[in-house]
Amino acid sequence: MIKLAPSILAADFSKLGQEVKEVEQAGADWIHIDVMDGHFVPNISFGAVVMDAIRPLSKLPFDVHLMIENPDQYIEQFAKAGADYITVHVEACPHLHRTIQLIRSYGVKPGVVVNPHTPIESIFPILEDIDLVLLMTVNPGFGGQSFIPSVVKKIKQLSDEINDKGYAVEIEIDGGINEETIVPCVEAGATVFVAGSAVFNQKNRAQALSKIREAGEK
Ligand code: DX5
Ligand code: ZN
Repeated sequence: MIKLAPSILAADFSKLGQEVKEVEQAGADWIHIDVMDGHFVPNISFGAVVMDAIRPLSKLPFDVHLMIENPDQYIEQFAKAGADYITVHVEACPHLHRTIQLIRSYGVKPGVVVNPHTPIESIFPILEDIDLVLLMTVNPGFGGQSFIPSVVKKIKQLSDEINDKGYAVEIEIDGGINEETIVPCVEAGATVFVAGSAVFNQKNRAQALSKIREAGEK
C-alpha cells in the first residue's frame, strides 16, 4: 500500500480551502505543505498562517516540508499550526539532531529531506531518530519540474539500510511524480509520494490520484 500526498503548491491559491477539501475527498492520504523562504530555495511560497487557515478543513495528516534556512526558528509555529510531520533539509541543518529533537518535543513526527546531489549515507547516522526520509527527485524550489532518474539508486540504498537495521522509517519521494515515474520508485522501496502538478493540474482529481495509485500498486 502506498500513500499519496498532493502538494498544495500546485493548487489554486484563490480557493485553497476548497482545493484541500477536494483532494481529501478524491482519496489523498496526506496533504504536503511546501514552505519556501527565498533563501534556501530561489522562490517564496507561504508560511504557518496559511497552514493554520486550512488546518481545520481537513482530517488528513499535514506533511510540512521546510525549504528554509534556520528551520529551528519556525518549528514551533508549524507545530502549533497543526503539523503532523515536519521535514527539514540535511543541507540546511548543521545541528541536525538538535533540530530533530526540537520537532519531537512538540509531539510532531520528524523527518529529513535530502537534495538530489547529496550522498544518502550522510543521513544514515540519524535514521534511528526519525520517522521519515523525504528524497528529492528535483532540485527544490518549484513545482512542475522533471523527475531526476539517477535518484532511484539512492532510494534503493536507503531502503536496504532501513531494512538491514530494522528501522521504522517511511521513504517519501518528492518532485516530478506521475503515473510513470512512480513505478521505479516503488520498486526501489519508497512508500509515500508527493504529487503537485500531476494532481492539481487535472480537472478530475480523483481520477488523477487513482491513476497514480494504480500505477504504483501494480
Ligand atoms: C519542490 C516541492 C515539491 C513540488 C512537487 O520544491 O518540494 O513538493 O511542489 O511538485 P511536482 O509534483 O509538480 O513536481
Ligand atoms: Zn515538497
